[in-house]
Amino acid sequence: MNPSLARGLAYFLAGVLALAPAACTPPAPQPRQTVTIPDNEIDPAVWGKAYPEEYELWKKTEEPISARRSKYKTGMDSGPVTMDKLSHFPFMALLFNGWGFGIEYNEPRGHAYMVRDQLEIDSSRLGAGGVCLSCKSPYAPGLQKELGTDYYRKPFREVLAKIPEKNRDLGVACIDCHDHRDMGLRISRGFTLLEAFRAMGVDPGRLTRQEMRSAVCAQCHVTYNIPKDAEGQSVGLYFPWQKGNYGAITIEAIIAQIRSDPRVLEWKQAVTGFRMAFIRHPEYEFWTNQSTHFRAGASCADCHMPYTVVGVHKVSDHRVMSPVQADMKACKQCHAQSPQWLRDRVFSIQDRTVSILIRAGYQCATVAKLFETAHRARAEGKTIDAALYDRAKEFYEEAFYRTVFMGAENSVGFHNPPEGLRILGDAIAFGTRAEAYLRQALAKAGVEVPLKVDLEILKYVDQRGEKKLRFDPSLEFKDPFGLQDRFF
Ligand code: HEC
Ligand code: HEC
Ligand code: HEC
Ligand code: HEC
Repeated sequence: MNPSLARGLAYFLAGVLALAPAACTPPAPQPRQTVTIPDNEIDPAVWGKAYPEEYELWKKTEEPISARRSKYKTGMDSGPVTMDKLSHFPFMALLFNGWGFGIEYNEPRGHAYMVRDQLEIDSSRLGAGGVCLSCKSPYAPGLQKELGTDYYRKPFREVLAKIPEKNRDLGVACIDCHDHRDMGLRISRGFTLLEAFRAMGVDPGRLTRQEMRSAVCAQCHVTYNIPKDAEGQSVGLYFPWQKGNYGAITIEAIIAQIRSDPRVLEWKQAVTGFRMAFIRHPEYEFWTNQSTHFRAGASCADCHMPYTVVGVHKVSDHRVMSPVQADMKACKQCHAQSPQWLRDRVFSIQDRTVSILIRAGYQCATVAKLFETAHRARAEGKTIDAALYDRAKEFYEEAFYRTVFMGAENSVGFHNPPEGLRILGDAIAFGTRAEAYLRQALAKAGVEVPLKVDLEILKYVDQRGEKKLRFDPSLEFKDPFGLQDRFF
């Protein structure tokens, strides 16, 4: 057989396997030790007595990766290092100026760090209150039930102090994803994820095992909104999926929901003075929106928790991490190509996404600065055409939310390449229109605007917050295709 035919056949077989997910998933778990896990047991060490292999792998999410294999996701390069996302993408520092994300925003690290990273971050990032524990601590569901609204609004450290000291910095634990009786997958965060599924008309009890292998991750790897009361205190938490459908939680549906609920305008963007909502790590929404791998029946666990052999057992790799850092082992379950080939595919997708993300980001930053100019002109007594201004604002927000969505999605486009480029293309379209309306409004008001808008980027990205965080130019991701400089 000629090599390309052989590859084609292997690819075809891979597709068939992917469509029969059971072939890709390990057999149902059998307890390997006669240890009973007590009801409501949170401590993973106790679970580990029954399932030592998974427990040992789970603990390893703390360990750094010895060799850098990822191009853009370098959060686990070495232990205590946190990667400054605002140095990666300086336009974000300008856009997020006005609250915590504009001060300190880091690349994700291993699961073991989730609470520890919160304790180390600039305190402005914890302003929302106890609600911040929701996608971090296995104690969150219990505390939410016990404290009601106080859970959301009370200061972060006060709610944290209710967790037994020895488990205070415990991140995602066995109980978050498993039923202790049969180790079946379960959703522990009823107050967020189950509600969100029901709001879309999905009965979470009917999800298949393969769907559950993604749903457990959707407890946290999703975007969420924190509604505020009149005093600006957090009063709840929800996923903005109400206007979407299973397999189609589109950016349009998310923006429409945000726009319909003024309580979720959580912060004020300093440059424009606009009250805004925010979008966080929307991995689940982005990936399930008709990506090739979702449609092929894959799951988050297929790529991030592949089988691995430990001693005589074949187990799911509970050392959850980037498949690139893990040398593409996960992909090989379904793809016959070499790790090098697969890695090149990932980088090629990510380079294209980053190039357009940078274009969209600086376009938003330019419009934000033009709003600053317009507001200054208005303060000086000039009249800004209201119709043009309103249109510009509406389009700017459309551009902004799309850009934030793609900047926050953690695969740099890989999870759904064409959807990523669609979202960013639209961000640029809305952003350029917003700029055109504003320039017209400013011209009408007799305000001269230079061809090149000075973004004053260093003012935002250098010397941030209480730690005076510095811009590190060596971290900046430049346009891989070298076009950005031509757009200023
Ligand atoms: C309880 C919430 C929660 C659940 C459930 C969860 N994650 Fe995470 N995950 C996080 C947080 C928070 C981080 C970032 C931690 C940090 O930077 O301190 C993270 C980080 C990651 C990373 C980056 C790791 C690295 O080494 O850089 C990957 C990959 C990941 N999660 C995948 C998954 C997958 C796949 C699932 C489902 C099997 C899952 N997560 C379930 C909260 C969660
Ligand atoms: C087809 C394989 C595949 C599937 C399915 C998949 N991912 Fe990924 N994921 C990747 C790749 C590849 C990357 C990029 C990693 C890199 O650049 O190092 C990534 C990156 C990530 C990251 C950032 C990792 C880091 O080191 O910072 C997170 C978090 C993540 N994925 C979570 C998820 C979640 C949650 C799901 C399901 C909703 C999911 N992934 C589905 C392949 C996959
Ligand atoms: C973020 C979610 C998550 C966490 C946390 C988690 N697991 Fe799992 N676990 C999974 C998934 C997904 C599977 C695959 C299940 C399937 O295919 O039905 C799995 C499978 C298992 C299995 C079945 C055998 C295997 O390895 O496939 C055992 C046993 C297990 N986990 C034990 C544990 C223990 C012990 C802990 C805590 C130390 C833990 N898990 C933490 C998601 C998780
Ligand atoms: C559960 C099986 C499965 C796993 C695991 C898997 N893939 Fe795939 N992948 C598929 C299937 C099926 C297709 C569609 C095949 C086709 O095009 O005929 C596909 C398509 C692709 C494509 C082309 C379409 C696109 O979205 O760009 C790339 C690139 C790709 N996979 C890379 C990867 C990488 C990298 C990994 C590991 C991080 C991976 N895959 C893991 C099953 C899988």
